[in-house]
Amino acid sequence: MVRLIGGVGTSHVPSIGAAVDHGKTQEPYWKPLFDGYGPARQWMKDNAPDVVIIVYNDHASAFSLDLIPTFLIGVADEFPPADEGYGPREVPTVQGDSKLAWHLAESLILDEFDMTVANKMTVDHGLTVPLSILCDQPEIWPCKVIPLCVNVIQYPPPTGQRCYKLGKAIRRALDAYDEDLSVAIFGTGGMSHQLQGERAGIINQEFDNDFLDRLSADPESVAQISHAEYIMESGSEGIEMVMWMIMRGALNDKVKEVYRHYHVPASNTAAGLIILENAE
Ligand code: DHB
Ligand code: FE
Repeated sequence: MVRLIGGVGTSHVPSIGAAVDHGKTQEPYWKPLFDGYGPARQWMKDNAPDVVIIVYNDHASAFSLDLIPTFLIGVADEFPPADEGYGPREVPTVQGDSKLAWHLAESLILDEFDMTVANKMTVDHGLTVPLSILCDQPEIWPCKVIPLCVNVIQYPPPTGQRCYKLGKAIRRALDAYDEDLSVAIFGTGGMSHQLQGERAGIINQEFDNDFLDRLSADPESVAQISHAEYIMESGSEGIEMVMWMIMRGALNDKVKEVYRHYHVPASNTAAGLIILENAE
């Protein structure tokens, strides 16, 4: 039986990882952000999941525009950090859970979600920064990780509704797995930000906070947010937030919000973090 201990939504801004790597988390710019991560790190320690499914996007690191999988699952035993132009981050290699990942791949594909399967892949800041946010700087990551990669880079990305349904299919797969495991799921990216073009720098705190407010109690309405609305309201890279809907879909309809942290800005981005646990 899998025990789904909860879901985390978190931004994955690369400079947050750089602040950890270069010992800057206590500097005045970063301290308020990292102070807010304290309770989330404690939650991670207290709950100590065996496996975390990390829903993230690759930023043209492992895949160029030659290959654009809409939904991809990593089934390898390990995933080294990607070189994003400055050499790979000096963080531990991510250890996979090949058995559970193959179970998920089979279950999702037979459940009509046509996943791409990756036997060999590097992972970029989209996946490693959330680990740094939740786990700080351990010698080895304290959990196995199943990378679940979503295209939000090249139009057309999947809809929020499709992502929400994929989350529900992940839950069905977890419920059908017969090993004793505790599992968490992270949805990463966002919150509002736009990195290029005329509207670069956009941050919309009202949109972000409304998204966080409705995520627990009214996920169906959040799943309805259209691509155009994300882009108008939260900037072109705000579309990353569809990945939070995969995390939300995997949880019960009823959840309790156990922690929230929202800080502006981290680099060019509104940084948000929310922890949700299943309620009956
Ligand atoms: C930034 C944020 C991101 O989510 C990302 O993938 C790259 C850069 C930023 O704010 O700089
Ligand atoms: Fe990103």
